[in-house]
Amino acid sequence: MKAVILAGGSGTRLYPVTVAINKHFLPIYNKPMIYYPLSLIMLLGIRDILLIINPEDLVIFQKLFKDGSHLGINIKYKIQERPNGLAEGLILAEDFIGNDNICYMLGDNIFFGHDLVKIMNEARYEIEKSGGAYVFGYYVKDPERFGVVEFDDKGNVISLEEKPKKPKSNYAVVGMYFYDNEAVQIAKNVKPSERGELEITSVNEEYLRRGRLKVKLLGRGFAWFDAGTHDSFLEAGEFVATIEKKTGLMIGCIEEIAYRNGWIDKEKLLELAKPLAKTEYGKYLIELAK
Ligand code: G1P
Repeated sequence: MKAVILAGGSGTRLYPVTVAINKHFLPIYNKPMIYYPLSLIMLLGIRDILLIINPEDLVIFQKLFKDGSHLGINIKYKIQERPNGLAEGLILAEDFIGNDNICYMLGDNIFFGHDLVKIMNEARYEIEKSGGAYVFGYYVKDPERFGVVEFDDKGNVISLEEKPKKPKSNYAVVGMYFYDNEAVQIAKNVKPSERGELEITSVNEEYLRRGRLKVKLLGRGFAWFDAGTHDSFLEAGEFVATIEKKTGLMIGCIEEIAYRNGWIDKEKLLELAKPLAKTEYGKYLIELAK
């Protein structure tokens, strides 16, 4: 399985903060937003990763991640010329994906929870074994902001809708999707929505129509933030700060994951920590190496 992270977009819901800077570089507490989805992909053990980015951000992304080899991963970049929607990311990723299955993550989604990686792995193995699409639902108070999934009494999915004015349930579809290779062709056939975008919800609807969509609910043991608005951005940062201070463990620390995965050795970890040594982040890595 390969991973694709969508890290472009115009970020208009965070204006004026994101007039001049892409939201994925903004800090969620002590690290750039993009570290969080990237760290989950690394926790899954996936090392081939494509970042879909805006043209003007290539230099900055390369400064941040280079080609990923210092973390034992392989990062490639693909330019999305205009924010034409999430489904377009799958089309842009076609060559990178080749014949593989896909873990597709939104760069502004932040997840935390016990057994999260176990649940993601279940989705991954399900797709690798049986194909189809595997997505997650999460109970929210403001479903009209999201893709919404409706269930019948038996828990079967009956509909999906993108940002409905009258949501049929309170379950948002979160920005982490597992697809078989068909997703690329499905995305190619998606027609622009009323807001003029190729919606990921349309891709999921097609899997539903084919009887190939599985939706798993993330229960009360999970926290999920779409950090794309001022409030959710702040909430996510406060949440990460609270958990990290309480537990003494970092969330989304990509160097730690590379080290624990055995992708980099102690010397490399210390080398990566050196320029960060004035920060708690750097000290954490140095401590880890001991
Ligand atoms: C996107 C998707 C939506 C999904 C959400 C999760 O919305 O279109 O279906 O629920 O991400 O973060 P956007 O953030 O692009 O408005």
